[in-house]
Amino acid sequence: MLPDLFSDESRNEVLGPGAAILGGFALDVTDDLIAQVRAMSAFSSFRNMETRGGKRMSVAMFNCGSLGWVSDRSGYRYDAIDPETGTPWPALSPLFLDLAARAADALGYDDFVPDACLVNRYIPGSRLSLHQDMDEQDHGAPIVSVSLGLPATFLWGGLERSIRPSRYRLVHGDVVVWGGPSRMIFHGVDELKNGDHPATGALRYNLTFRKAR
Ligand code: SIN
Ligand code: FE2
Repeated sequence: MLPDLFSDESRNEVLGPGAAILGGFALDVTDDLIAQVRAMSAFSSFRNMETRGGKRMSVAMFNCGSLGWVSDRSGYRYDAIDPETGTPWPALSPLFLDLAARAADALGYDDFVPDACLVNRYIPGSRLSLHQDMDEQDHGAPIVSVSLGLPATFLWGGLERSIRPSRYRLVHGDVVVWGGPSRMIFHGVDELKNGDHPATGALRYNLTFRKAR
């Protein structure tokens, strides 16, 4: 790990072994990221998926990449086809791929090449309950997660659901990376508070990069 990554001036924060918040890491590309999210969502639109138990998620999602995370009454899976359009998900752009690789590299994860990016859209009141990212075949690769728009409270727990999570504030341009011994940590997002962000209005977007296969 680069020593200056955690200098006093940085807003970087260690979450655990192999896991950190990189404060403002994506700030120089946030406008382009948001423009690309909007353009892609004209093809594969945001939708509130159903869980296996039949509940609608309060976070709306679509994917880009050769694989996309899908939830319905049959459970969770990665699928190359968007079930709503019947066609492949939009491709992962060079901007997305480059940002994910640079953030992973900052934590010492070399050559991270994600094949899936879940795009989450939160409105005030949306939340994501504690979960592990466990539908990927390759748990050797890290998760890279980019925050855009309204601030959120990230919940960072332990390797068991019962461990009470710590709370971290994530703002526009922050990137969280977790892998290695922290790859299977339970995490989530607390109920989004009302607000108005210059880049997104009353929304928060999150890009979660994974290597699914
Ligand atoms: C996720 O765990 O998939 C999303 C995390 C976030 O929105 O910050
Ligand atoms: Fe997750």
